[in-house]
Amino acid sequence: MYSEKVMEHFSNPRNVGELEDANAVGQVGNPKCGDIMKIYMKIEDDVIQDIKFKTFGCGAAIATSSMATELVKGKTIEEALKLTNSAVAEALDGLPPAKLHCSVLAEEGIKSALADYYRRQGIDPEPIIGCP
Ligand code: FES
Ligand code: FES
Repeated sequence: MYSEKVMEHFSNPRNVGELEDANAVGQVGNPKCGDIMKIYMKIEDDVIQDIKFKTFGCGAAIATSSMATELVKGKTIEEALKLTNSAVAEALDGLPPAKLHCSVLAEEGIKSALADYYRRQGIDPEPIIGCP
């Protein structure tokens, strides 16, 4: 049912935890299943220097959080905003259809943290990100 990559990221998730000096924090919940994902970022010069996550959710949500944080780490805000849920699922060699919403949670978590970053700079994130 799950790809080896999903199992590997679930068993050995990257970037787990919190960042004390985060300057961007996002939290999203999945109304479908009640799972919660929290994303912490340290952004400097428009680059995501560090990122950590805490996910209270299913195995696929943990694997997608892990993969999404890996995909945006070291990237610019602009690049990170282009991360789609399907890119996260593809990087994991696919997800079962019933678990695709878990990758949506990961995309929204990244966007929610970036929206928080903009708000802290006094910038309205809505025109840039949409509605995270
Ligand atoms: Fe809800 Fe995975 S089952 S995020
Ligand atoms: Fe919030 Fe669309 S994701 S209203």
